[in-house]
Amino acid sequence: MLSINCLLSVVLTYLINSVPRVHAQDDNPPGFLSIDCGLPEGSDYTVSTTGIYYKSDSDLIDSGKSMSLLPALIGSSSEKYFSTVRSFPQGKKNCYTIQPSAGKGNKYLIRASFMYGNYDSLDQSPTFDLNLGADTWSKIVFEDSSKVVRKEIIHILSSDYIHVCLINTDTGTPFISALELRPLNNSNSMYKIDSGSLQTISRVDFVSVRGNGVIRYPKDIYDRRWVSLNLTNTGLGTMLDISNGNIYLVPKDVLRTASTTENIKDPLNFYWDTTSTSDLIYIYMHFAEVEKLGANQLREFNVYLNDKLWSHQPIVPGYLSVWTVYPETPETGNTRYAVKINKTERSTLPPIINGYEVYAAKKFSESGTNETDVSAILNIKSAYKVIKNWQGDPCEPEDFVWDGLKCSYHSSDHSARIISLNLSTSGLTGEIVPCIVNLTQLETLDLSNNNLSGQIPGFLSQLALLSVLNLKGNNFTGPVPPQLLENKEKGILSLSIDDNHGNNTNIEKKSNMSTPVVVGSVVSVVLLLAAIAFGIWRMRGRVFKKSGKLLQVNRSDLERKNRHFTYSQVVDITRNFQRVLGEGGFGRVYHGYVGNDQVAVKMLSPSSTQGYREFQTEASLLMRIHHKNLTSLVGYCNEGTNMGIIYEYMANQSLDEYLSGKSYGIFSWEIRLQMALDAAQGLEYLHHGCKPAIIHRDVKTSNILLNEQFQAKLADFGLSKAYPAEGGTHVSTVVAGTPGYIDPDYENSKRLTEKSDVFSFGVVLLVMITGRPPILRNEDRTHIAQWVDFIVKNGNVTEAVDPRFGGKFDVNSVWKAVELALTCTSRNSTRRPTMNMVVIILKECLAIEISRHDAYPYDSTEMFSTDPERSLVPRVR
Ligand SMILES: *[C@@H]1O[C@H](CO)[C@@H](O)[C@H](O)[C@H]1NC(C)=O
Ligand SMILES: *[C@@H]1O[C@H](CO)[C@@H](O)[C@H](O)[C@H]1NC(C)=O
Ligand SMILES: *[C@@H]1O[C@H](CO)[C@@H](O)[C@H](O)[C@H]1NC(C)=O
Ligand SMILES: *[C@@H]1O[C@H](CO)[C@@H](O)[C@H](O)[C@H]1NC(C)=O
Ligand SMILES: *[C@@H]1O[C@H](CO)[C@@H](O)[C@H](O)[C@H]1NC(C)=O
Ligand SMILES: *[C@@H]1O[C@H](CO)[C@@H](O)[C@H](O)[C@H]1NC(C)=O
Ligand SMILES: *[C@@H]1O[C@H](CO)[C@@H](O)[C@H](O)[C@H]1NC(C)=O
Ligand SMILES: *[C@@H]1O[C@H](CO)[C@@H](O)[C@H](O)[C@H]1NC(C)=O
Ligand SMILES: *[C@@H]1O[C@H](CO)[C@@H](O)[C@H](O)[C@H]1NC(C)=O
Repeated sequence: MLSINCLLSVVLTYLINSVPRVHAQDDNPPGFLSIDCGLPEGSDYTVSTTGIYYKSDSDLIDSGKSMSLLPALIGSSSEKYFSTVRSFPQGKKNCYTIQPSAGKGNKYLIRASFMYGNYDSLDQSPTFDLNLGADTWSKIVFEDSSKVVRKEIIHILSSDYIHVCLINTDTGTPFISALELRPLNNSNSMYKIDSGSLQTISRVDFVSVRGNGVIRYPKDIYDRRWVSLNLTNTGLGTMLDISNGNIYLVPKDVLRTASTTENIKDPLNFYWDTTSTSDLIYIYMHFAEVEKLGANQLREFNVYLNDKLWSHQPIVPGYLSVWTVYPETPETGNTRYAVKINKTERSTLPPIINGYEVYAAKKFSESGTNETDVSAILNIKSAYKVIKNWQGDPCEPEDFVWDGLKCSYHSSDHSARIISLNLSTSGLTGEIVPCIVNLTQLETLDLSNNNLSGQIPGFLSQLALLSVLNLKGNNFTGPVPPQLLENKEKGILSLSIDDNHGNNTNIEKKSNMSTPVVVGSVVSVVLLLAAIAFGIWRMRGRVFKKSGKLLQVNRSDLERKNRHFTYSQVVDITRNFQRVLGEGGFGRVYHGYVGNDQVAVKMLSPSSTQGYREFQTEASLLMRIHHKNLTSLVGYCNEGTNMGIIYEYMANQSLDEYLSGKSYGIFSWEIRLQMALDAAQGLEYLHHGCKPAIIHRDVKTSNILLNEQFQAKLADFGLSKAYPAEGGTHVSTVVAGTPGYIDPDYENSKRLTEKSDVFSFGVVLLVMITGRPPILRNEDRTHIAQWVDFIVKNGNVTEAVDPRFGGKFDVNSVWKAVELALTCTSRNSTRRPTMNMVVIILKECLAIEISRHDAYPYDSTEMFSTDPERSLVPRVR
C-alpha cells in the first residue's frame, strides 16, 4: 500500500492549481460537474446511457486514498462510480474544494453518493458526518454494506467555492463514492428557498404497470433522480407527447404515468417520514391528465395532508399538461406526513398523481472565509506545494482553522478574514508569490526558516495592516524594499531579516527614535500621571475583586506598575491574541483574562497616526472617568509600537448586535428602555458629571455595549473631546462620527457642542423603539427621524414600533419615548433637551411600563432576576 505521504507527493506532482476551474471537457453536459471519487488519474469516462462525463477526483483533493470495491459487491445496475471510493483514514476533516463554473449566487443541485461495499475488508460500515462549508449537511449511516446512501441538496452558493467535507467522528473511516453538481434555474420561482437550502427527502415518479426504474439525465435536464413507486397496483399512462412547460421541467416520462385507485371512492394514500418535528417541509406535487376524458367525465380531487386540506382549490389536471401544486409556506410540526388524495363529490373519476418531490429546509451559515482570501491562500498552497492539512474553508469552522493561520471573524460583511499566516519551517522554495498581497487583512507574516530566494518584493508594503514580518533564515538577495524599511523606521512594522542579508544588517537594530514611540512616551506620561491620581483603588476594586489566582500575570507586578501591562503580559492575557472579539478603524479587540476576570484588549493597529491620537484620547479619558454606564479601564500597554487598552469584558456584545435579534429578551420594550436609560446615564455623566465636560462624538448602537447582565455601557471614546473649560461654548473640529447618527447642525457649522451627542442619542432611541436602522433601506434612504416624525404626524405611533414587541408595551410609555427621541433629533440644536432631562423622561417611561406589568401578568424573561444591583430592572414575581 502506498503511504499517505508518497501518495500526496504523487498527487502534488500533477497539481498545477489546487482548485482548477472546471475544464471544458469536464463540463459535459454544460455546467455539470461529475466526480468519480477514487477513480485513478487518467481514467475519466463518459457513461453511454446518459452521456455524462465523470472525472477522477485526483486534482481536486490532496488527501485520502483511492480504494476499489470487489466487483461482486457492486450491483449490475449500479452506477459505475460506485466501483471506487476515496477513503480518508487520516485527519479529522477532509474536504473537496470546488470552484464551479457558475459562482456565488447561483443555484445548484449538489449530490454526494456513498456505497461502502466492504471496500476495506473490515466488514464494518462506518458512520461519519458530511459537511458543506462550516456546517453539518448530514450524518452518513449505512443500513448495510451494499446499500447506497445519497445526499442531495438544492443550494444557492454563498461563495465562489464549495467545500464538501467528510468528518471523522471516531466511528469508522469516512469515504465517498461520487460528487455531482448540477446547475439549476436561478429564477426564484424554481424551488423558492427562503428558509435555507432544500435537502431532498424523496422524489417520486408514480408508475403504471409499465415500470421504468429511475429517471434522470437526459430525461431530466437537471439530472434529478426520480424513483419509481408502484403505489396502488393501478396505474394510468400515455405514450403521447405531454407538456412539462412550467419552470420545474419535470421529465415527460414522469408525467406520462400516474397512480390511481381501483375503486373510484378510495383515496390515494402515501406518506413520508422526516427526522425532526422542527423540519420545515416543502412539497411539490405534479399532476397531469393522461386519459382523454369524455364530455360527461370529470376528474377532480383534493389533497389532504395529515387529514387537513392541503390543496387550496380542487385540482383538475389538464390533459397532457403539467400542473404543479406547492404551498407558499412550509409544513412543520410532524415527523410523519400522510397524504390522502380523494375525489370531490362531483368527480366521476378517481384521483391521480404523477409525481412529487419533498424537501426539508436546511440553513447553512452564509459566512465562510472571504473569497479573495480563499483564492489567495489556495494559490499560496499550490505555489509552495504546502503539505499541511489545509482542507476546506481556511477559517471555518473555528476549531478547524488551517494550521499556521489565524482569522478574524468580525469583519463588516461577516465573512472571516485571514489575519496571520505562519509558514515558518515549511520547506518553501522559490520566490515570494504576489498573491500574498491579496490577503489584505494580514497582520502577521512569518516565512522564516525556509529556502525562499530572489528579491524581497516591494509589494509586501501593500499589506497595510502588516505589523510583523519575519523573513529570517531564507536565501534572499538584493536590497530590502525602502517602503518596508520606512515602515520599520516608523515603528509600524516589526521586520526580521537575516543579519547577513545584503547591506541591511543595520536594520535589525532597534530604532528607539521613531515617531510613534515619541507619541507613545507622551501617552505614557499622561497615562502614568492619571494612573497615580485615579488608578490604584480601582485596580484593587476591579481586577482583584474576585481575588482569584492571577493567570500568568504576577499580582505584585501589577500593583507596582499600576495598570501598566507589558506587551508580553498582554500576550499572556490574550493567550497570544487567540480570540478576536471585533475590530474597528484602530485595530482589533481580543478576548483575554486578567486573573479570573474576562477582559477585552483593544490593540492599536500600527497603520494610522489618526489611530494613535484616538488611542491616546481614549486612554487618557478613561483614566479620569468612572461610571457604571461607561466601559471601565482595566489597564493599558504602551511598549514601543505595541499599544493596547484593556477593558472590562462586555459579554453580550453591542446594542447593535442585540437589536439584530440573536439575543434573549429582544422582544421586551421594558428591557430596551432600561438599556436606553443606562446609556443615557453614561452620557449624562460625560456631559454633566465631568469637568471639563466630555463630548463623546460617536454615540451609536454599536458603541453601546452590554455586559453579562445586559447592563448597557457607553464605549469607544476615541473621538471624544473635552469641552473647553471656561470661555467658549463649543469646539471647532473636523467633523467625525457615523452617518445617520451625526448631528446635521454640527455637520454644517462644525461647531461641536454636547447637543450633538443628544442628537445621536435620539437616533439611538429611535433605533431601539423601531428596530430599524438610522438610515432606512428604502429607495430614498430616509432618515429614521423623518420617518417616525411622518408616522406620528399621520396618526398611529404604534405603527413605528418594533413589531417584535408583539404589541406588548404600554402605549403611553412608547409615546413619551418617541416624543423624547424626536425632540432630541430636532434640527435646531437649541430645542434639544439636555441629557439630564433625557434621563428624567426615560425614568418616567420606564415607570409607566413597569406599572403595566404590575397590572398584567408578567410576560418577560427571567434573565435579570439574579442581578441585585439593578433596582430599576423588573423582578420576576
Ligand atoms: C429560467 O426560468 C425562467 C423563467 O421561467 C426562464 O425565462 C429562463 O429561460 C430559465 N433559464 C434557463 C437557463 O433555463
Ligand atoms: C406494480 O405492481 C404490479 C402488481 O404487483 C406488478 O404487476 C407491476 O409489475 C408493478 N410495477 C412496477 C413498475 O413495479
Ligand atoms: C376525503 O378525506 C377527508 C380527510 O380524510 C375526509 O374527511 C373526507 O371524508 C374524504 N372525502 C371523501 C369523499 O372521501
Ligand atoms: C473580500 O475581501 C476583498 C479585499 O479586501 C474585498 O474587496 C471584498 O469586498 C471582500 N469580499 C466580500 C464578499 O466582502
Ligand atoms: C510561527 O510558528 C513557529 C512554530 O511553528 C513559531 O515558533 C513562531 O513563533 C510562529 N511565528 C509567529 C509570528 O507567531
Ligand atoms: C488578487 O485578487 C484579484 C481579484 O480577486 C485577482 O484579479 C488578482 O489576480 C489577484 N492577484 C494576485 C496577485 O493573485
Ligand atoms: C535552496 O534552494 C537552492 C536553489 O533554489 C538549492 O540549490 C538548495 O539546495 C536549496 N537548499 C535547501 C536546504 O533546500
Ligand atoms: C542561496 O542561493 C544561491 C543562489 O541562488 C545558491 O547558490 C545557494 O546554494 C543558496 N544557499 C542556500 C543555503 O540554499
Ligand atoms: C552592498 O553595498 C556595496 C557598496 O555599497 C555594494 O557594492 C553591494 O552591491 C551591496 N550588496 C548588496 C547585496 O546589496
